[in-house]
Amino acid sequence: MTDLDAVLGNAGPTGLKERIAAELAAVRERSLAYTDADDDMLVRQHSPLMSPLVWDLAHVGNYEELWVLREVGGIEPLRPEIDHLYDAFKHPRKDRPSLPLLGPAEARKYISGVRGRVLDVLDMVDLAAPDPLRSGGYVFGLVLQHEHQHDETMLATLQLSRRPGLVRDGELPPGRPAAEPEVHIPAGVFTMGTDTVAWAYDNERPAHRIYLPGYWIDRRPVTNAAYLEFVEDGGYRDPRWWLPQGWEWAERNGVEAPLYWTRDGDTWWRVRFGREEPVPPDEPVQHVSWYEADAYARWAGKRLPTEAEWEKACGGRTYPWGEADPGHLGRWANLGHRAARPSPAGAFPDGASPYGVEQLIGDVWEWTDSWFQPYPGYRCFPYEEYSKVFFGETYRVLRGGSWATHPSAVRTTFRNWDYPIRRQIFAGFRCARSEE
Ligand SMILES: [Fe+2]
Repeated sequence: MTDLDAVLGNAGPTGLKERIAAELAAVRERSLAYTDADDDMLVRQHSPLMSPLVWDLAHVGNYEELWVLREVGGIEPLRPEIDHLYDAFKHPRKDRPSLPLLGPAEARKYISGVRGRVLDVLDMVDLAAPDPLRSGGYVFGLVLQHEHQHDETMLATLQLSRRPGLVRDGELPPGRPAAEPEVHIPAGVFTMGTDTVAWAYDNERPAHRIYLPGYWIDRRPVTNAAYLEFVEDGGYRDPRWWLPQGWEWAERNGVEAPLYWTRDGDTWWRVRFGREEPVPPDEPVQHVSWYEADAYARWAGKRLPTEAEWEKACGGRTYPWGEADPGHLGRWANLGHRAARPSPAGAFPDGASPYGVEQLIGDVWEWTDSWFQPYPGYRCFPYEEYSKVFFGETYRVLRGGSWATHPSAVRTTFRNWDYPIRRQIFAGFRCARSEE
């Protein structure tokens, strides 16, 4: 039995419950590891873009309380007076440090109290019930993915803090040279989105057929070495490559390289979790905005792929390599913070899609050319603030997850979105071009 069978319920209700309990324990261990720091580190705001870490910590417990305890368990609110503090729509991130938030010790106590009751609900709930929150353990998938997403956000905050010694690093396989830098995807119809992945979000549904003309897509994400050619070629000083809004943004903010990069003579350095190191040439570039990705692509004579092109390149599977859950072995992708960085280009040949496109999942989120819009036939579930309020021409879609994304919170249909100016996220890109 694979993990996917368990997620899909093929393990039977008991196996699924065991899997959920194990995943809940693992994600909490992760959240507690990222907040294992002194109180000042946790209550301080390290950037106006981010919440204090202690906000994320209590927020994941509050979300779990709302959805599992109140909605499914029918349990009375434990601390109704704090709900508004942890409602992401009530207070923007920049205002959160001035709120009367729970302190670190109180936050840990609150989320562990919630978790105890969540496990009681898990014990009693019927995961075969027709109700869509219970069916297949959807509500548990919702809170698990949510907590992992906040863990990734916490890593971005830890990176912004520039404090050393707080984030674990690890080993990664070596890179490999690529024979052909681009892969051709022939014209044709493919199925985008999903009706069947048990824990997929509303914005990934429904599955629908789309025709795409033939195109070329980069076999791997754009590396630091390739990106450096754009920098050294004066890419940041030439408005020809930039959209007007992007040019204006770069000028106003003095942007002339990826975030965390500085030049010292002929060498480029970067800061990674508080440590300075030379920029490694063969890693995918990260901490670039959509505008920078778009400008690079134009300079290279290419463009960003649409999200449909990105997804088609995955070959119509749950993961590019097939259905095997990436949680085991770590053979297919650099996910789940096995190391605190992207892996070198070519490090995961077994993770290639049937077309031979590599590193689609893991390493860096990949900016696409697409706005975050609903699929035809979209139905909001279970609440409007997950996706619906973000649809429109404000956010660009990112695909594929980063090294910091947990395997249970990514798949080929998964859609992330952000403002085109954002750089603190673990995002890079690959390019595409139309057939001539
Ligand atoms: Fe949240």
